[in-house]
Amino acid sequence: MDFFAQVNTSNNFNEDVTREKHLPLIQVEDVGNDKHKIIVDVGGGKHPNDIDHWIQWVEVRLDDMFVGRAEFSAKVMEPVVEFVVNCKGTCNISALARCNKHGLWLTTAKCS
Ligand SMILES: [Fe+2]
Repeated sequence: MDFFAQVNTSNNFNEDVTREKHLPLIQVEDVGNDKHKIIVDVGGGKHPNDIDHWIQWVEVRLDDMFVGRAEFSAKVMEPVVEFVVNCKGTCNISALARCNKHGLWLTTAKCS
């Protein structure tokens, strides 16, 4: 499989067949006043974090609008980040992460 030929998602790639995990796990908490905390954990702690293989960054979007980006140093940082966003009603969240060896990985969720 050529990981770099596509944006990998749970629909086009079954991570259960691999030992390492790349898909961003998205958790949403309502913190009141139309604010939501979005916690993104890329791979849920099941991805290597070595100087030659690590999660380089993750970007979060809300209804296709850029929210933020976090970059991770190999070994010293875990690929986990949280953003607090203002959103009324139901919003679509996406998190796009990049592994230096296995390309782009996308997960979507909703906050309401
Ligand atoms: Fe990887």
